[in-house]
Amino acid sequence: MDRTAVVKVGAAASASVCALFGGVVLAQYIVAKKKRAGKKTRIIEMMPQFEKTTVHMKDHGKVEDIICGLIKGGASKLQGLLWFWQTKCSSLFQIITDFDMTLSKFSVNGKRCPTCHNIIDNCKLVTEECRSKLLALKNKYYPIEIDPQLTMEEKYPFMVEWYFNSHRLLVEQRLERDKLPEVVRESDVALRDGFEQFFDRLQQHNVPVFIFSAGLGDVLEEIMRQAGVYHPNVKVVSNFMDFDENGILKGFKGELIHVYNKHDGALRNSEYFKQIKEYSNIILLGDSLGDLSMADGVNNAENILKIGFLNDKVEERLDKYLDSYDIVLVKDETLEVPNAILQKIL
Ligand code: TMP
Ligand code: MG
Repeated sequence: MDRTAVVKVGAAASASVCALFGGVVLAQYIVAKKKRAGKKTRIIEMMPQFEKTTVHMKDHGKVEDIICGLIKGGASKLQGLLWFWQTKCSSLFQIITDFDMTLSKFSVNGKRCPTCHNIIDNCKLVTEECRSKLLALKNKYYPIEIDPQLTMEEKYPFMVEWYFNSHRLLVEQRLERDKLPEVVRESDVALRDGFEQFFDRLQQHNVPVFIFSAGLGDVLEEIMRQAGVYHPNVKVVSNFMDFDENGILKGFKGELIHVYNKHDGALRNSEYFKQIKEYSNIILLGDSLGDLSMADGVNNAENILKIGFLNDKVEERLDKYLDSYDIVLVKDETLEVPNAILQKIL
């Protein structure tokens, strides 16, 4: 073989090796790309908290879309700018949440935790006679509150009756304002696991947290204070006690808020709500179907993610909750799922 032929064969051989090598690299790239395509790319799938058995969703795609919308909007970025600019911005983010059995736990080790009202019902300031009357009211009206067969309209007058009778009994007890911190400290109330992370993150990012509760505002505020999470970004609309000049309970301020009137009266009159109604990206947290109307007055809502805690009568109520809430957390005493979502958004 002459030299030219040797060079030609050598060139052909190295070209084949290059082609082979290139082919292998290309094949590897295609396989890797395919593998990547099969990997978890949906936001929900990237959050291990969604794999918990407590998490239920009817429409995964819808939840994915809402969370993506919230992520795009981010935090209330214009918080520090002029009020005028804030209200013109379409992606301001806020939390609207219920309190009892939503931020607070429903049970610990199988033992029921108290609502704001129950903290007073069970405390030493209330006479035994009054306690048994309050308990009788609870035994009559709580089953109505959670009855899956009755509509909200049917429940409404019973709730008014419950609150009217319960508040009248409390006023008769002439409760002292100064005793409330001690009463709360001695109670079994507990906020859901992960509450510090929840409130601290929202404070860091200046996100307004609107607590709209049919509980007792003074008790609620004391719980938040003692837990160290009553930050300046948190606003409470609730039933606040009215005390006389000696600090003795004489009635309740403003319009009554009960479980099924969360969008009328009280909401319209709330100064805070007027301020925040332009915030169009919302996470709503509740445990009752009545809580769904907490965001009714928000103008131009763009993305609302509704997360519902289903604590009681699960089998009978799950379908309705799945129809109404985007994410239903069944017997889940934590804020792990809301915290995971907030971590993605903020
Ligand atoms: P929420 O709106 O923060 O959940 O608070 C309302 C809860 O309080 C609701 O579940 C009914 C409950 N409640 C009592 O536990 N005892 C009472 O006496 C009354 C009037 C309400
Ligand atoms: Mg509640």
